[in-house]
Amino acid sequence: MRSVDQGMQSIDESVKKLLSGGGKDIPLFKVFIPESVIEPLREVLLSGYIGEGPRVEEFEQQLALWFNNDNVLALNNGTATLQLALRLANVGYGDEVVSTAMTCTATNEPILAMGAKIVWADIDPWTGNINPDDVAKKVTPKTKAIMCVHWGGYPCDLDELNAIAAEHGIKLIEDACHAFSSIYHGKPIGSHSDFACFSFQAIKEMTTVDGGALVCKSKADRERGRLLRWYGIDRKSKRKDLRCEEDIVEYGYKFHMNDVTAVIGLEQLKYVGKTIEKHRANAARYNEAFKNLKTVRPLRYKDDRSSVCWLYTVRVKNRQKFMEHMKKAGVTVSQVHARNDLHTMFEDFRADLPGVDEFTSEQVSIPVGWWLTEKDLAHIINAVLEYERYLRPRIQEMKKPPRKYEKKMAHRPNL
Ligand SMILES: Cc1ncc(COP(=O)(O)O)c(C=O)c1O
Repeated sequence: MRSVDQGMQSIDESVKKLLSGGGKDIPLFKVFIPESVIEPLREVLLSGYIGEGPRVEEFEQQLALWFNNDNVLALNNGTATLQLALRLANVGYGDEVVSTAMTCTATNEPILAMGAKIVWADIDPWTGNINPDDVAKKVTPKTKAIMCVHWGGYPCDLDELNAIAAEHGIKLIEDACHAFSSIYHGKPIGSHSDFACFSFQAIKEMTTVDGGALVCKSKADRERGRLLRWYGIDRKSKRKDLRCEEDIVEYGYKFHMNDVTAVIGLEQLKYVGKTIEKHRANAARYNEAFKNLKTVRPLRYKDDRSSVCWLYTVRVKNRQKFMEHMKKAGVTVSQVHARNDLHTMFEDFRADLPGVDEFTSEQVSIPVGWWLTEKDLAHIINAVLEYERYLRPRIQEMKKPPRKYEKKMAHRPNL
């Protein structure tokens, strides 16, 4: 079998080829598929068993070690993990869920699918994460759950959010689709709240092509979820004629993972520690390089938690200009997600969200992932510094008092 380093080298080689070929831009995301996945994939594809089976179970056991939590369910995508979490939290028609607008719509569409109403809570404009003080204000007797999202992988204020959930006897659901392997208060995301939902979609920290994991605090939720992920049927129960004799108590979904995607996940777990290290190291380089800038400002993170740095988001003065400048420099940048609350499908839930207004007017993400070479990093940092040199004097100019006022001031004695 190939070692982790050999795998990384071959990936680096093919990425280098891609980056040097045809003057392509440095990408914001990149799919990581090690060549070593081909053999186990071939085996499972030709095994005669490709549905949910022993490889899914093995993948769940491996994930349990990553999450420090045995109650893992492997599902077919991250959106399904969110919908199943809402179902297990007993969110139903007419109930309220307090949620964040600053995320992928996949966070909030499942709330509508349950027939529930969204109550937006504001965010911290320097992290992108939901603000617990505003969450506390938005909880009503109809609230069944709080939904939080770890923007870019930076963990939310989980102690505060869990305290609010406990006070009201409601559930906290973490959309951790950006945060595989992030750490909060010394423990991995997936071991703090009632539910944590992960995505293994193509461009996430780790991919199974499509896939997800729902991690539950309670064994009972895990057991109920195990049935609901497959029509409410217990695949493990002994039966004489396939599943024909079993009564289904509660309707479910077709949300299970299969053995084909599970072997990809098992192979990915051998590499993901290394790829994540690269994300974190690249982010640290940016933090240092950008710490004194006035026009491109990193988000403000506490050191009691650590982001897996799926995104490196900055707040930028005159974002449109910045995006054009980076594009010219051959660097892909993006806002990644648009605020959800302005979509027509959510128009019944409109609210005043000054934190979202502030964040959304300046936020943009730059490439930070495992695929960046030393040359790419230097090039990106240089492009950002160039922007600072261009815009900073203009901003200072804009900040100067109007000329008339300046004249008056000039005649005042020095105080
Ligand atoms: C924050 C967030 N939540 C949920 C999802 C949905 O995950 P999936 O695409 O695996 O369904 C995504 C991304 O794709 C996401 O970024």
